[in-house]
Amino acid sequence: MHLPNQFSVRFAEALQSFVDDPSPFASMIRSTNDPKFGDYQANCAMPLSKEIGKNPRELASEIVEKLDLDALCEPPEIAGPGFINLRLKDSFLLQSLSDMLSDPRCLVALAEPKRKVIVDFSSPNVAKPMHVGHIRSTVIGDAIARTLAFLGHDVITDNHLGDWGTQFGIIIYGYKHFGDADQVDKNPVTELATLYRLVNQLIEYRKAKRTVEQIPTQLTEAESEVAAAEQALQAAGDPKAKKQAKKSLASAKKKVESLQSQANSLRQKIEAVEADAELLAQAEAHPNVENAVLQETVKLHQGDSENIALWTKFLPHCKDEINRIYNRLNISFDHTLGESFYHSMLEPVVEDLEKRGLARDSEGAVCVFLDEFDAPMIVRKKDGAFLYATTDIATLKYRLEEFNPDEILYVVDSRQSEHFDKLFAVARKIGMENVKMVHVNFGTVLGENGKPLKTRSGTLIGLEGLLDDAVNRAREVVCNPERIEKIDPPMDDAEREQVAQVVGHGAIKYADLSHHRTSDYSFSLDKMVALEGNTSAYVQYAYARTQGILRKAGVADSDVTSIDAAIAGFTHPAERALAVKLLRFEEALVAVHQDYAPNALVDYLYETAKAYAVFNDNCHVLKAESEAIASLRLALVALTGRIIRRSLSLLGIDVVARM
Ligand code: ARG
Repeated sequence: MHLPNQFSVRFAEALQSFVDDPSPFASMIRSTNDPKFGDYQANCAMPLSKEIGKNPRELASEIVEKLDLDALCEPPEIAGPGFINLRLKDSFLLQSLSDMLSDPRCLVALAEPKRKVIVDFSSPNVAKPMHVGHIRSTVIGDAIARTLAFLGHDVITDNHLGDWGTQFGIIIYGYKHFGDADQVDKNPVTELATLYRLVNQLIEYRKAKRTVEQIPTQLTEAESEVAAAEQALQAAGDPKAKKQAKKSLASAKKKVESLQSQANSLRQKIEAVEADAELLAQAEAHPNVENAVLQETVKLHQGDSENIALWTKFLPHCKDEINRIYNRLNISFDHTLGESFYHSMLEPVVEDLEKRGLARDSEGAVCVFLDEFDAPMIVRKKDGAFLYATTDIATLKYRLEEFNPDEILYVVDSRQSEHFDKLFAVARKIGMENVKMVHVNFGTVLGENGKPLKTRSGTLIGLEGLLDDAVNRAREVVCNPERIEKIDPPMDDAEREQVAQVVGHGAIKYADLSHHRTSDYSFSLDKMVALEGNTSAYVQYAYARTQGILRKAGVADSDVTSIDAAIAGFTHPAERALAVKLLRFEEALVAVHQDYAPNALVDYLYETAKAYAVFNDNCHVLKAESEAIASLRLALVALTGRIIRRSLSLLGIDVVARM
């Protein structure tokens, strides 16, 4: 049930006599948060009055006269400059709740037309452990895929693994120079991760040594910019010039600060190596590690038998490592077609682009020049190597032929937006203009200091450790003896552990999904795993309360299938407010699809859980004034439970019946 759409249809009819194309005006319906303004509000009278030159309030009352909303609403009220406030009839609300209770989809319509949507998400570069940066794509992509599938779309999920890039050059190099074959056989996942970290540290050390040397010169330049800006500020006469000078001064100072902090972090990296005699010896013994790693990667790509054999040996272990995390997070994919899958298609892709006259030679490299961009898209480097972009073009072609999708969503970090802009531009040139392609971009996970979340030594924080921390915190917050004591019958260890897992994992996912994907957010376990505020634990607790009430009433959820037709109305405003929220379920789901933003569903859940808490505080179910009131309230409890459970499951989050 999508009430704004139902209203729009009726408004479109009413507006026909005022304007040729009523649809943009008819769709101006929004839900309200204050019952004073009704449950929904139509805002079309103001903009339409401008277009047709009428007084907006008068126009609003003319529209209301033509509207046929009797089945749904009380007579509309006109407010302020011409808002039309719509208040749902209690009889309509009750009937709708009753219909929701008997429908396994809770009246969520199946999308029409149904679209075939590929969701490319998670897609980590394997061969290194998953870190905090991988949460976002994994969790956002999974929530979008689940929601679109529930809306009735044909969803295909694909994990575009980075299983063919430099990271393999790194572990191959590591294995050849530092590896212990026995260890790798016995304990492959840990050993490969150790080799990756070691070689990566040597590379970072080399880079840091090189970069840090350039900093003093850059710093001197930046400092003289500051001095110049200070002088300019003193000399500035009028306010406009002053403002300008202040701006340049601030930006020059910022540059100095950022160089200083960059120098600090580089020095830390260098010190970490130099403080460790063994590591330092290794660093000195491998001065060309960066280049050597690239060579190993090139050899792999050219089919060198030793490197192919190592890659074939390592890859399954790398996959085991990430699958362990996917299992923990209950994430799965229809396909896992990694970059290596497309390897043999790259050469033909480049040839095809050349044949179409889209790609040409530029200083030895093959490039696609695009009018909208300054820099071309390089599809083959001078040394013959193909790039990330080449693979993505091959992937597009494959997806088009194999799946023929209507939409392809790439759930990838915002920092790759230029790559995707170019990719989509190329796609339009090779006959894919009918496929809707969206870079579902997202921001960074920050530490509480507002900087990207890193460990002390400057590496990104491992995902597995983070999940463990969240589960431990959940155990303290939710399963502490004082809280648990009150639960009857008592929870055994297994149940307690189950609760800690569900709440801990839910906390990480929910916190991520609760922010609009494009904003950065600060990672704070304290806030994430709390029973108050916009957290999964708060919503999961609301769910557990609904189940507790059903248990006490001795009623199975599946037995609540309707509202007694004899019930004529609500007895408390909190009942009605909760009912209105429950009716908005489909609106939240559709909003997730519109902006590819799961936070719309999170916001909805939080609003619903809050309305449920108010209801719980004010409306007794088991000790209600009459049997009729008890049965209405029990129906609200059951439906709230179902909608919370379903919504959380669309976000990839579980519930427990008691907590
Ligand atoms: N492996 C890439 C990375 O970690 C992300 C891949 C995203 N998907 C794609 N089709 N490019 O940056």
